[in-house]
Order: sequence, then structure tokens, then C-alpha cells
Amino acid sequence: MHSLLSSKWTKAALFTLALVPLAILLWRGFHQNLTANPIEFITHATGDWTIRFLVLTLAITPLRQILKLPELIRFRRMLGLFAFFYACLHFTTWIWFDKFFDLSEMWKDIEKRRFITVGMLAFFLMIPLALTSTAGWIRRLGGRRWQMLHRAIYVSAVAGVIHYYWLVKSDVRKPLMYGAVVTLLLAWRVGQWILRRRPPAHVRATSPDPSA
Ligand code: HEM
Repeated sequence: MHSLLSSKWTKAALFTLALVPLAILLWRGFHQNLTANPIEFITHATGDWTIRFLVLTLAITPLRQILKLPELIRFRRMLGLFAFFYACLHFTTWIWFDKFFDLSEMWKDIEKRRFITVGMLAFFLMIPLALTSTAGWIRRLGGRRWQMLHRAIYVSAVAGVIHYYWLVKSDVRKPLMYGAVVTLLLAWRVGQWILRRRPPAHVRATSPDPSA
């Protein structure tokens, strides 16, 4: 398993796999098979893949620790960039095919539909993360500051779930499912943070009892 995850071919295979949703959309587009409402179909498909890649990106750290597979970290950046890539397609569909670059129409939509506002927040938070995802930026910012900045992905994922929850009309099962997964992934991080702050057992055992 370790050698499979370290192979450059696995990374290349994952990269190809991550492009499959786009390839399917293009294929359906060329064959005029994007349903009766192509804009809605593309918006939904790209929105779905944005949230899926966001969740996958957040799952890497817990999985590599729980499964003891440190090599999984090699895929985190790529998955995060694919989340951003599909978010760009999602956002472009709205700006271009839905609003035809009409700023007043966009503004009206932002004012009228609160799920658009929170979706914007989720998207705009991803931009600095994508721009600073390179090793050069980690060096320039320093590990700690880079890590602090990249915690914005937590807010982006939560905003993405709220966006989804607010936009569905009746069946909220899917957004709630994503909400539960994101909550679990964030709770795991809080748990790890608490554990890291606790002094080791032998220090706790030898420290004087404050109530004594
Ligand atoms: C990280 C950012 C975002 C995520 C994770 C996300 C995710 C989603 C998801 C999962 C859906 C529903 C797909 C389905 O029903 O199958 C959706 C729909 C939609 N999103 Fe986003 N989205 C994001 C950002 C945005 C932005 C920035 C805009 C526009 C400014 C936007 C506009 C829309 C619209 C118009 C719909 C369709 C609403 C409807 O069917 O009535 N989204 N998005």
C-alpha cells in the first residue's frame, strides 16, 4: 500500500480520474445531452463536484493519521486544487450562462438569494488558498502563517454546506449528509488539538495536585 501511494503513477491516475466529471459534461454537451435545462444541469454537476472535492481534501489529514498512511498527504494539494477548479467552473456557469456578465442582475441575485452570498464567501475564500498552494508560498509565508491561512478551507467547507442547505427546496438529506461529514472532519481536528495541548501522562502524574 505504501509503495502504491508513493508512486507517481497513482498521482497521475488520480489526476485523470478527477477530470472525468468534466469529461462527462463535455461529452454530454457535444452530444446535446445536457437535459432540457443545460445551465441547471452544469451548475448542479459542478457544484456537486466542488463540495465532494472539498470534503475529500479535508478527509486527507484524518485518514492519513487513522490509517497510518502518511503518503496520503501527496494528494491533498491536488484534491484542493480540483475543488477550486470545479468551483471556478460552477461560478463561471453562473456569471456567464446564467447572468450573461450582467452586473446588475448578479447584484439582484446576491440580494435576493442568500445562498448565493454564502456560496460567494465559500468561493472567494478558496482563491488565496489556491494561489498560495505552492512550495514557494509555504517558504515565503513560513509554515505557521501558511497553515493559519489555509485554515480558511474549514470556513469555506462550512459555507459550502450552508449554501447547499439553503438552496434546496424540500429534500435536505444530501446537504445534511455533507454537513454531518464536514462536522465530523472538523470535530476530529478539534479533538487532536485538545490532545496535543494536554501534557503527557507521566507529567500529569507527577505534577502537584492544586487542590491539595
Ligand atoms: C465552494 C463554493 C461552492 C460550493 C461547494 C457549491 C456547491 C453547490 C452545490 C452542491 C449545489 C447543488 C447541486 C445539486 O443540487 O446537485 C450548488 C448549486 C448552485 N450553486 Fe453553488 N457552490 C459554491 C459556490 C457557488 C457560487 C460562488 C455561486 C454563484 C455566485 C453558486 C451558485 C449556485 C447556483 C445558482 C446553484 C443552483 C441553485 C438552484 O438549483 O436553484 N455556487 N452549489
